[in-house]
Amino acid sequence: MTTKIGNLVQGFYNKTPFPDYDLARFNSKEDLSLAAYSFAKILDRSIPENASVIDVGTGTGQLSAFLSLRRECVWGIDFSDSSLKKAKALQEKLGLDSWNLKKVDILDPEQIDAIGKQFDYVLCLGVLHHTGDAYRAFKNIMKLVKPGGHVAIGLYNSYGRLLLKKRIFLAKTIFKNNNAVKDKYIRMQIGEVEDKERARGWWNDQYLHPHETTHTVGEVIDWFTKNGIQFNHTVPSTSLFSESAIDIGGVWSKVENPPSFPVQLYKQLGWIWSTNREGGYWITFGRKPENSSASR
Ligand SMILES: C[S@@+](CC[C@H](N)C(=O)[O-])C[C@H]1O[C@@H](n2cnc3c(N)ncnc32)[C@H](O)[C@@H]1O
Repeated sequence: MTTKIGNLVQGFYNKTPFPDYDLARFNSKEDLSLAAYSFAKILDRSIPENASVIDVGTGTGQLSAFLSLRRECVWGIDFSDSSLKKAKALQEKLGLDSWNLKKVDILDPEQIDAIGKQFDYVLCLGVLHHTGDAYRAFKNIMKLVKPGGHVAIGLYNSYGRLLLKKRIFLAKTIFKNNNAVKDKYIRMQIGEVEDKERARGWWNDQYLHPHETTHTVGEVIDWFTKNGIQFNHTVPSTSLFSESAIDIGGVWSKVENPPSFPVQLYKQLGWIWSTNREGGYWITFGRKPENSSASR
């Protein structure tokens, strides 16, 4: 049964699917490749072609559609009918046969079990903080990871999102209905965008969302530990001496010790400013050990 917050969030994404796109722009698989953003390209080049992948909370599915171009088994799951409808329209138009789309509420363990499969790569980017119970959703989706499989979890950081929260407040009060400020704020996060649908989608998702939570690195380390997932690294980095940039070689193979509490605090305080443009978004990478007892 969908929760009260679940209903609210589902209704929001049914009205404003994310990331959204204009179907008319995609007339070939090449158009899909050309439109892929840089992180999607890094994932595409770093995930082996014979690996199975699931994108949890795929929305309108640009990432999972793109990854399916070179792979036999890519799933995209979401609980928004409108988002999945858009994704299916793209699938039919381009004939993306290895892309499986399914309606799943990740807070419902039975719906997760009904998938009946585990994956080499489980991606969940920008989703858990909109569920109303991020840890429960995390725990459920860890059942989808094969022993030895990889995990990427993207979340809003409690420190990194502070300045965006200030902008949300200003946009809802002093600068309400001020399009110049709205454009400036959108440009701050995603730069100059010609694609009006993309800009509108971002605005809705960042400034008008009915429910979001924020999380700390310590919390995620704790989630990983409790579910037998090995912590590998974060982007931006939480290692004291490491570069923040994400590189293809290091996405899945880099293994760093989980940062100590003082280092977590030091790094996250830095994120108030350094991740301000991304709205405090960070990704934690991990792996389920081969001999995991937490696996199904
Ligand atoms: C911000 S969008 C992220 C979309 C995509 N992952 C991306 O990064 O572009 C969040 C997505 O999570 C989905 N979502 C939120 N709660 C969910 C739940 N309980 N079960 C399944 N999907 C959920 C929403 O429908 C929405 O499409």
